[in-house]
Amino acid sequence: MPTKIEKDAVTGRETTGHEWDGVKELDTPLPKWWLYVFFACIAWAAGMFVLYPSIPYGKGYFHGVLGYSQRAAVDADVAKLIAQRKGSMDKIAALSFDAIKADPALMEVALTSGRITFAENCQPCHGPGGGGRPGFPALAAGAWIWGGTLADIQQTVTHGIRSADADARQSAMPRFGADGMLKPAEIEAVADYVWATFYGHPTAGQDVSAGAKIFADNCVACHGDKGQGNRDMGAPRLASHVHLYGDTRETIVSQVTLPRQGVMPNWGTRLDPATIKSVALYVHSLGGGE
Ligand code: HEC
Ligand code: HEC
Repeated sequence: MPTKIEKDAVTGRETTGHEWDGVKELDTPLPKWWLYVFFACIAWAAGMFVLYPSIPYGKGYFHGVLGYSQRAAVDADVAKLIAQRKGSMDKIAALSFDAIKADPALMEVALTSGRITFAENCQPCHGPGGGGRPGFPALAAGAWIWGGTLADIQQTVTHGIRSADADARQSAMPRFGADGMLKPAEIEAVADYVWATFYGHPTAGQDVSAGAKIFADNCVACHGDKGQGNRDMGAPRLASHVHLYGDTRETIVSQVTLPRQGVMPNWGTRLDPATIKSVALYVHSLGGGE
């Protein structure tokens, strides 16, 4: 079909000459404002190409006239942050706990750092906010096994408990059942006594005197005659409602049969002294600090 360019009677515009079944195509130009914006974008892009890093080649790239680099900008920010933090962390490492506590700004840095360290390293075992889990002591309850002063906590965290560290806190409850020191019936009896008197779940009319005798002969040295525990031995307080292994009679039987002797890692090999002090201050602040 021959193309015929003509004027459209309604709009006054030219047609392109294309026609389909009597429908003619108008030759409508782009709006001027749209074109100018479009050209401005091209000019802007060309400018950015020249000013900023753009065209890659081989192993490098064109760095741009301004020499800007996002990586360098981030590195500079990080370096600034480390420098800022380093000043505070160096102070925390050097100062005594009392001196840190007397400096509110420094204390804030320590508690923030301690909270993050705790969430990353301690929470999986000790639970959020140090609430504890079966086998992993509550740190917020004030029911300390080894001690809850800042120095105690620092020592525990640095060297661990039953860990490979030479200065780790050590103690081992005897394997009364597994090593045949007590017969199963005796274990049941002593569990009845501990459950009724110290854990506070007495059964009416129950006679626990046999268990009391076994306790006096075998357990008092570590746990105390009133079940008060002994921090030098890391023997938990039994007369309490906070229990390492849970508040059930079965945990008493299983502990006397085969003690679990939980291991707390020695963090001194993984965290620097300032970070350990910070996490000690954080743990101490959870509510149970002494
Ligand atoms: C792999 C599990 C695990 C991790 C991780 C862990 N702990 Fe422990 N922690 C234990 C166990 C188990 C005990 C109790 C050992 C015992 O005495 O029977 C303990 C005991 C403690 C105690 C002594 C509590 C007391 O009553 O005297 C403190 C303090 C403590 N942990 C702090 C921390 C801090 C701070 C971190 C993180 C830097 C941490 N723990 C990470 C397992 C863990
Ligand atoms: C040499 C010291 C020692 C002696 C003796 C000892 N214990 Fe323990 N006991 C511990 C220690 C340490 C723990 C905690 C760490 C572990 O073994 O898991 C513990 C934990 C326990 C627990 C768990 C407490 C909790 O909070 O969940 C019970 C219950 C217990 N002992 C009962 C006894 C009874 C009953 C006897 C006597 C038959 C006894 N122990 C003798 C040191 C001792």
